[in-house]
Amino acid sequence: MSLRIKKLLTMDPDENEKLITAEGWVRTKRDSKNFCFFEINDGSSLKNLQVILDKSSEKIVKTIDKISTGASVEFTGYLVESPGKNQKVELKAENVLLWGESPAETYPLQKKRHSFEFLREIAHLRPRTNTLGAVTRVRSTLSFAVHSFFQSNDFLYIHTPIISASDCEGAGEMFQVTTLPLDNIPKTKNGAVDYSQDFFGKQSNLTVSGQLEAEIYALAMKNVYTFGPTFRAENSNTSRHLAEFWMIEPEMAFCTLEGNMAVAEDFLKYIFSYVLEHCPEDMEFFNTWVEKGIVDSLRKIIETPFVHMTYSDAVKELEKSSSQFDFPVSWGADLQSEHEKFLTEKVCNGPVIVTDYPKEIKAFYMKMNDDGKTVRAMDVLVPRLGEIIGGSERENRYDMLLKRIHEWGLQEEDYWWYLDLRKYGSVPHAGFGLGFERVIQYITGMQNIRDVIPFPRTVKNAEF
Ligand code: 4AD
Ligand code: MG
Repeated sequence: MSLRIKKLLTMDPDENEKLITAEGWVRTKRDSKNFCFFEINDGSSLKNLQVILDKSSEKIVKTIDKISTGASVEFTGYLVESPGKNQKVELKAENVLLWGESPAETYPLQKKRHSFEFLREIAHLRPRTNTLGAVTRVRSTLSFAVHSFFQSNDFLYIHTPIISASDCEGAGEMFQVTTLPLDNIPKTKNGAVDYSQDFFGKQSNLTVSGQLEAEIYALAMKNVYTFGPTFRAENSNTSRHLAEFWMIEPEMAFCTLEGNMAVAEDFLKYIFSYVLEHCPEDMEFFNTWVEKGIVDSLRKIIETPFVHMTYSDAVKELEKSSSQFDFPVSWGADLQSEHEKFLTEKVCNGPVIVTDYPKEIKAFYMKMNDDGKTVRAMDVLVPRLGEIIGGSERENRYDMLLKRIHEWGLQEEDYWWYLDLRKYGSVPHAGFGLGFERVIQYITGMQNIRDVIPFPRTVKNAEF
């Protein structure tokens, strides 16, 4: 097996001249009289491997002529000390195999810097750029960190369904799943769509959250988490919304809002530290090219306790500066992204957990406070982005939950099993959802959420 470039770059020059192979895609090529110099990358690291190929035969010269940026190649040679100061070693190649050419006239990735907008149009080639390569590695490492945190804390990983008949957030922003013929939809006597003829025999959708099903498992296994794709048909064309995004949702029984906040804070700090430790080179890249100072600001966050603030106090703070905002601030209105940023950047100078929101602006399942006006909700807000986590203590009292379901105009029959959980062995429980792409944005400093997911799904866009 050939060695990955990341590994080769850590090795010492080999005095025994043992032949090794290195494979990858050409980033640059520079030709001179007797030698040809290449930089190749195989995705394992930000750094390229330098290769010097001796033009020792007619055959090699002919092959070199056909190699340009983007071509896939395999070199055989040995590791020697590199005279360049950016790397310890380079490959002195004796042979080259050109696997696939990449015609220079049409290859869209040139050496210059391309805009992220342009790169989105060539999402099949963009992982070959430094930035998207770094995002890809950080994303993969973060996924592992998520599992590592929960597994080492005795949470069970639960696979919740992608297709669901319940609307967890009650916001009606769902993609419908149907096999009914769109050009001839069966109707009932009173003109409504006859879902009894649909595949599942009732209206069903792509899930907006795995929470309700995670609650089922929390009320048997105590601590569980989900980590999967979720879908929202929100018509919001912003730099922090996707129609398909990944969400991490822990759910804990015998746990109230206080425990929930503590887990959210520990969890975020754990994954931040994990990435700083495991992706130092990529993080340094983001620190230099994407968001100056990001590494230090993450370190500071890891060391500092998060601020806690009730929604009512947050509104008081915002009202002091109300003239600065486009959207008005008043008790009862949802916090807009500009308000969230102001709270984190100007008031708290770091992450803040806002709790106890008015019941009208939060989901039906959140536990009612004794004031009858607010619910035990929590949002974790961070500088630059605003909300990255939304969660709550759940309403665990049967009567109160039923009342909320009615208030929301939801159908009691649709939530029979959810209500049952409040009938049999109910207990205070809580959980939250972390938007995976939002947290990657936060850690890398990437401005647009479309650039931290391999294939963004947004309004009017499902290419690739
Ligand atoms: O605040 P949300 O809607 O909460 C829930 O779905 C709860 N059921 C979670 C729970 O308690 N188990 O979404 C949670 C997080 C948000 O804070 C945000 O980070 C992310 O999911 N999110 C999105 N990310 C990208 N694109 C979108 N359209 C998103 N909507 C929410
Ligand atoms: Mg939310």
